[in-house]
Amino acid sequence: MNIYIMLQHLHSTLRYALLLLLVIAIIKALIGWLGKKEYTKGDKTVGTVLIAVTHVQALIGIILYVISPFIDLILANGFGAAMKSADTRFWAVEHFVGMIIAVFLITIGRARAKRITDSVTKHRTLAIFFIIALALIMYMIPWSQRGFFVGDAQ
Ligand code: HEM
Repeated sequence: MNIYIMLQHLHSTLRYALLLLLVIAIIKALIGWLGKKEYTKGDKTVGTVLIAVTHVQALIGIILYVISPFIDLILANGFGAAMKSADTRFWAVEHFVGMIIAVFLITIGRARAKRITDSVTKHRTLAIFFIIALALIMYMIPWSQRGFFVGDAQ
């Protein structure tokens, strides 16, 4: 198994860890915000693991973008040509840009929340940033093209 195939499988599977962590972080933030709860050590730990997994996923994605023969093929006739069809545009820019924005939202949301001392405001900030990021990630995952795991493609 070469490095590309390994990273492709890792990137495909890690989405579930990221989605699960993001959902847990959102539920915790909503409970904390709406139930007016303290920001706990457990909340902090979930956030730290979420950031780590998000950044690893983004890094693998960036490496894939550079080494993937599939992306090579998409960009074979230049960027302009790839922009002309919805399928190739998705891989040339939309997945990349959409996911980078989602990663920013998760990172900035947590950085902002860190500076807030009031627990309820902290929870609210995290809930808002994370929910928007989750919606964007769900939208930008190529469910219909690639299925649920590598090799599921219809
Ligand atoms: C951070 C959240 C991200 C998630 C949840 C995510 C998810 C996915 C999924 C599910 C696939 C399809 C894998 C399969 O074939 O089963 C994929 C493919 C891909 N992603 Fe991401 N991605 C993310 C970020 C990124 C970023 C930031 C980039 C940077 C450019 C990127 C680049 C790619 C590339 C190039 C492929 C196609 C690889 C290939 O098949 O050759 N991803 N991504």
